[in-house]
Amino acid sequence: MEANKLRLLCFCVFYLALFPTLRASIAHDAQFWQTRAREAKQAAQKAYKPNPHDIALTFNKHVDKSFKSSNGTRRGLSKYTGPCLATNPIDKCWRCDPNWEKNRKKLANCALGFGHGTTGGKNGKIYVVTDSSDHDLINPKPGTLRHAVIQNEPLWIIFKHSMNIKLSSELIFTDNKTIDARGANVHISNGAQMTLQYVKNIIIHGLHIHDIKKGGGGLIRDSVNHYGYRSSSDGDAISLFGSSHVWIDHISLWNCDDGLIDVVEGSTAITISNCHMTRHNDVMLFGASDGYSGDKVLQVTVAFNHFGKGLIQRMPRCRWGFFHIVNNDYTQWVMYAIGGSQQPTILSQGNRFIAPNNPNAKEVTKRDYAAESVWKTWSWTSENDLMRNGAFFVQSGKKSGNFPKTDIKAKPGSYAASLTRFSGAIKCVVNKPC
Ligand SMILES: *[C@@H]1O[C@H](CO)[C@@H](O)[C@H](O)[C@H]1NC(C)=O
Ligand SMILES: *[C@@H]1O[C@H](CO)[C@@H](O)[C@H](O)[C@H]1NC(C)=O
Repeated sequence: MEANKLRLLCFCVFYLALFPTLRASIAHDAQFWQTRAREAKQAAQKAYKPNPHDIALTFNKHVDKSFKSSNGTRRGLSKYTGPCLATNPIDKCWRCDPNWEKNRKKLANCALGFGHGTTGGKNGKIYVVTDSSDHDLINPKPGTLRHAVIQNEPLWIIFKHSMNIKLSSELIFTDNKTIDARGANVHISNGAQMTLQYVKNIIIHGLHIHDIKKGGGGLIRDSVNHYGYRSSSDGDAISLFGSSHVWIDHISLWNCDDGLIDVVEGSTAITISNCHMTRHNDVMLFGASDGYSGDKVLQVTVAFNHFGKGLIQRMPRCRWGFFHIVNNDYTQWVMYAIGGSQQPTILSQGNRFIAPNNPNAKEVTKRDYAAESVWKTWSWTSENDLMRNGAFFVQSGKKSGNFPKTDIKAKPGSYAASLTRFSGAIKCVVNKPC
């Protein structure tokens, strides 16, 4: 939804008059979220990179290096037991380790791009989700995912067995959490969304998230110390609201009521990698409002994702910030792939764009709410992208950043299929490379 407002409380005067204690609690809620918003803004300012093209360059160097050293890495792995098929530097960081299960937290060192440094629950205990139910939103049962994500301390959350979790209402995270579904087939589906509101340092890895519905809202616990009223939720798969240092990796996403991944309200230091997205209209929204200049801090890396069957538009749709869209494979869209308004900087490198057969939908890009004389100044750059079936990218503005002489170009789009080959949730077996 475009108008992604601060989801607080909306109660009719009638109830307020009847229950003065409720009114007091609403005032308390507003204060609680105001404090959280203030802290989140400070965290975002700290995470913001004044030279974002350096981050893009570093990312490209990692990819380049992983190609050069891949033979050496194999020889160097002492416990190498089979063909490790990791095809990109994020995966090479952990997938070839047959002891991935014992070394789960290795993943915490693998984020590249703007989300680099996201460690999630690295410094915490392992929390094992044993119960797929979600019945009590105020006092969640120990062993449930909801109980895990509201805890104050850092946690590395894993799953005892495969399960389907139907969220009764929004799942609201606290700081320093990893959700690591490796080794189990975990679906979050047919219920409400995951919401990261004013939090930092979150890794979400290895889930299937689909058929997410609008949520009814109501009383929900958002942390051990607090619960409050929430209005309805949009029906995104994952919604980032004023959050920083978030890494979303190897998620399979499809068919939700609203967006698949929304990044809004001054979120920053985000990497979305190795995801496989299908069957959806509004895929990803980065910045929800042309009027909210607080989104100038938005900095997102979108890498190694496969935008597959049945997608329509917004892969992503950007506003205000800096977006490095690199080494993704776009095999289908109906309207366009990358769009935006309000002068976002878009650096598209090494993607493969396969246009649909519709002669009117060959353009990768789409600009909204601006005359050509205005959008001509927006920095939208395409480099080393592979254009197929008539796809074309309309560039504009100056090439982003002052790339130094040592500029290492992104791996060309002809590698995108290989780099994204294992996108989506992957099946990992204990004691085997994944
Ligand atoms: C790895 O080694 C093989 C055999 O020596 C060679 O053919 C291949 O090109 C090398 N691959 C890389 C990525 O260096
Ligand atoms: C989250 O982790 C950071 C970095 O390790 C730490 O400074 C902070 O206190 C943690 N927050 C909580 C609520 O534990």
